[in-house]
Amino acid sequence: MMDALGAPQTLLLLGGTSDIAVAIARRYAANRPLKVILAARDTPRRTKVAAELSDVGCVVSEVDFDAHDTTGHEATIESCFADGDVDVAVVAFGVLGDPEQAWTNADAALELATVNYSAPVHVGVLLAARMKAQKHGTIVALSSVAGERVRRSNFVYGSTKAGMDGFYTGLGYALREHGVHVLVVRPGFVKSKMTEGLGAAPLSTTPDDVAELTVKAVKAKKTAIWAPPPFRLVMLVLKALPTPIFRLLPF
Ligand SMILES: NC(=O)c1ccc[n+]([C@@H]2O[C@H](COP(=O)([O-])OP(=O)(O)OC[C@H]3O[C@@H](n4cnc5c(N)ncnc54)[C@H](OP(=O)(O)O)[C@@H]3O)[C@@H](O)[C@H]2O)c1
Repeated sequence: MMDALGAPQTLLLLGGTSDIAVAIARRYAANRPLKVILAARDTPRRTKVAAELSDVGCVVSEVDFDAHDTTGHEATIESCFADGDVDVAVVAFGVLGDPEQAWTNADAALELATVNYSAPVHVGVLLAARMKAQKHGTIVALSSVAGERVRRSNFVYGSTKAGMDGFYTGLGYALREHGVHVLVVRPGFVKSKMTEGLGAAPLSTTPDDVAELTVKAVKAKKTAIWAPPPFRLVMLVLKALPTPIFRLLPF
């Protein structure tokens, strides 16, 4: 259960090595020790993250999770709940891909659609069933402003985020009466491993800042946030632009 301060005792990170997900765990750990389940591919990066979170007082367990292994997802989610309730689950895994390759190479498009849309929907349904059964919990879905209005420059990635955003928004409506909360987080450009080597965009932010906003929003039971917050207004303006202008935007 969440403690009196609205912080989780058990945190599940699906995509447990994501810089943003790890920053969320660190943010919670700064206030109180907690149990963190790292569901991620078995890589040196996962081992390193597990050690870092242990060093800041987390009790860490590692669970194998690959977005492609859909037949294994149910067993993975079951094992994450095997030792007790999960208070907050963060759906953080995702890939950016190369935007031009993504619409000219069918396999590259399928990779984005699978990792960013099909797998999040699959694990979302499994998480929902477990949280419904325990009658409490919060699912945090890392979406993107790229999905709010899909741009020419990265429309395959944007389309996958539009789909996963719609799914988790609807899941929040469906789970409300069951005592389960869903928060959709829409960051802009975050300086993380995913964007390494790319030129920073306007209003760029950091995993720590996204984590800070996310932790506050979980506590306040918000259903959607933008990171940084001014992106909410920026997206309102962008969504209102007529298509002949919008499709020519250089970003
Ligand atoms: N960075 C940004 O600018 C930005 C902006 C908006 C939204 N987001 C979203 O935020 C989320 C986290 O991104 P991040 O910035 O923290 O990037 P990150 O550090 O690169 O994290 C990406 C995560 O996805 C995992 N992943 C990729 N393919 C996977 C697969 N097949 N199976 C399981 N896990 C897989 C990675 O695991 P491995 O360690 O095994 O590779 C890693 O944990 C993503 O969904 C991203 O789309 C990011």
